[in-house]
Amino acid sequence: MTPSRWDATSSYLIDVFGAQDEQLTTLSPRAVAAGLPDIAVSPDVGRLLKLLTGMTGDGRGARLAIELGTLAGYSGIWIARGLAPGGRLITIESVPAHADFAQREFETAGLSGSVEIRRGAALQVLPALAQEVGPGSVDLVFLDALKREYSDYFRLLRPLIAPGGLLVADNVLGSGSWWIDEPAGRNADRDGADRFNHLVAADPDFEAVAVPIREGVLIARRMR
Ligand code: DHB
Ligand code: MG
Repeated sequence: MTPSRWDATSSYLIDVFGAQDEQLTTLSPRAVAAGLPDIAVSPDVGRLLKLLTGMTGDGRGARLAIELGTLAGYSGIWIARGLAPGGRLITIESVPAHADFAQREFETAGLSGSVEIRRGAALQVLPALAQEVGPGSVDLVFLDALKREYSDYFRLLRPLIAPGGLLVADNVLGSGSWWIDEPAGRNADRDGADRFNHLVAADPDFEAVAVPIREGVLIARRMR
């Protein structure tokens, strides 16, 4: 695999599997024009999130999903579209301007009844959220906030994930500024992702794999 072959393959996957509606197509350019960072999962990863969300909850879709890192709402819209009827997505965002933008997008998408943004840093918000929703109540978790904190998120969220539920994480192989094959000790996000990958892989209650789509997506199922 060469860099140019990787880019061409990623483009192919988006061309074939990344069909999306007008709102999702224009969301990232509109977010960038509004001053938000140009960071979102790709359309094929979006479809993967919807697909995985829909496979939980005994195949009817997640009844409760939690996302860490809302940003402009792009991935949240995909997840919300995979929820069970009456299902909810709680998505956590620390930057007020991002949460404001995403709130409008959820409204435009007709999802304001099923998506709720919790404002604040994930590690600050999670302990109270865990108390609120209770053990075994969450069918799908999507991690996309600070890569160096992924293992801490996992420790806090682990008891909440229902048997058969899924833990999904973005950027487990890289992001704009690092890649997983680089030496340890130079980039806290690389090291955080590496630590997280090993932590989940070694957890006897989870079966985990990472798929090399875009910047790497970890998928783990709670077995018991
Ligand atoms: C970055 C963060 C992401 O979640 C991502 O998917 C790509 C890049 C970043 O912080 O640069
Ligand atoms: Mg990401």
